[in-house]
Amino acid sequence: MSLRLLGSQSITDGKLHIAGIPANELAKRYGTPLYLFDSKDLRATIREFAAAATAAYENSTVAYASKANSALAILQIIREEGLDIDVASEGELEAAIRAGFPATSIHLHGSYKSDREIHRAVQLGIQAVVIDNLSDITRVAAECEIAGRRQGVLLRIAPGVDPDTHKAISTGQEDTKFGLNIADGSATHALEILSRVKELDFLGYHFHVGSQLLDADAVEAGAARTAEFAIEMIGTIGEPKEINCGGGLGVRYLPDQVPVSPEELCGRVAEACLAPFRQAGLPLPRIAYEPGRHLVAEAGTTLYTVGPIKTVPIGAHGQYRRYLSVDGGLADNPRPQLYGANYYAINADRAEQPHDHPFRIAGRHCETDTLIPEADLPAFTKEGDILAVQCTGAYNLVMASNYNRYPRPALVIVGDGEPFVAVERESVENLFTNERTRMESKV
Ligand code: LLP
Repeated sequence: MSLRLLGSQSITDGKLHIAGIPANELAKRYGTPLYLFDSKDLRATIREFAAAATAAYENSTVAYASKANSALAILQIIREEGLDIDVASEGELEAAIRAGFPATSIHLHGSYKSDREIHRAVQLGIQAVVIDNLSDITRVAAECEIAGRRQGVLLRIAPGVDPDTHKAISTGQEDTKFGLNIADGSATHALEILSRVKELDFLGYHFHVGSQLLDADAVEAGAARTAEFAIEMIGTIGEPKEINCGGGLGVRYLPDQVPVSPEELCGRVAEACLAPFRQAGLPLPRIAYEPGRHLVAEAGTTLYTVGPIKTVPIGAHGQYRRYLSVDGGLADNPRPQLYGANYYAINADRAEQPHDHPFRIAGRHCETDTLIPEADLPAFTKEGDILAVQCTGAYNLVMASNYNRYPRPALVIVGDGEPFVAVERESVENLFTNERTRMESKV
């Protein structure tokens, strides 16, 4: 079976290349573990999604969910491509501003918004604050009074849709900490309050059912439910100008994971969302999407250097397992531990050899941090080879830690002229910059 390549990956002279550059050369130049990011792939994915959204319905907009990867240089590319942006913390808000997003292209999420976040958002005059709870209404209104301006808001609702994905990333069901339930009347109650708060400009509704979704069913059901609810509520709050259908579109971590196309997703969601308005003869709202993972995941590849390989007996019948260690793991990619996520790996130095021998890829941290339970690699994979793990552009860099005091990897962008170091590799020295010992404070 031939290797699965993504984006600009290719095999030339038996070696894996990314954006035309040999992976092992990048590893040598920048060290490992290394996050690589292919800007061409990112741009192509954004354009495909944006075109799908507007083809399904012209009055559509796409905001990037920056939690997936908020490296400034990546945000800058996303801005150049014309997307809006979703932020969920003061840090993400600051990142969006530093990357050049105008305040009017930003909306702020959060089930626990700090006073500082709300203050900064209202002072900047962002496009929308997404109301998640009743406390948000009071606090945003209070900030508006201080700022002497009104603030656009969306109401986040829990539509009561349970998607088919890992429980840690399911958010649309009724038993959730996010948003206000339609079923128990809390969303209605919030709208009654909102209708009386003159500082807040009600723009419409938001829902997000979950993440790494391979089909469109849950988002489609959420859109239909939200549209019906919005119509029922016109007497209370008026017609919605916008319905934001959240993110969630999945990616190909493994070759057999094939997400629905953006075209099908947007087509079905737009239809589900707009049909109730058409039937009722009402003006159609703008539809917003908020993809994170889908836009950035496949553009990312992590390079590791293979370390010691061990053969360990398993069972009583002479079976064995080969453990292949790499110079990363839990600290640069916690997703296998957190969500049971799986990945596809290539031996970048032996890309022409059949990848048909099972190895268990083990991280280097002080626990069983299996990165890939069973990866097929060339039989002669050796210590010192470069291993490329695909599809690591989303929720890796941003969820990385310094566990075991390992410095975090660099992020290098390829695909647009010379490789560009977007995030410097941390040094061991960096690990101590915010710390102080008692001995020092006595000196
Ligand atoms: N909008 C809202 C309100 C969200 O909560 C999320 C993700 C998104 C959009 C973007 O979802 P996406 O298109 O990326 O699926 N750390 C987890 C993912 C957490 C997602 C949280 N919310 C992971 O590594 O799988």
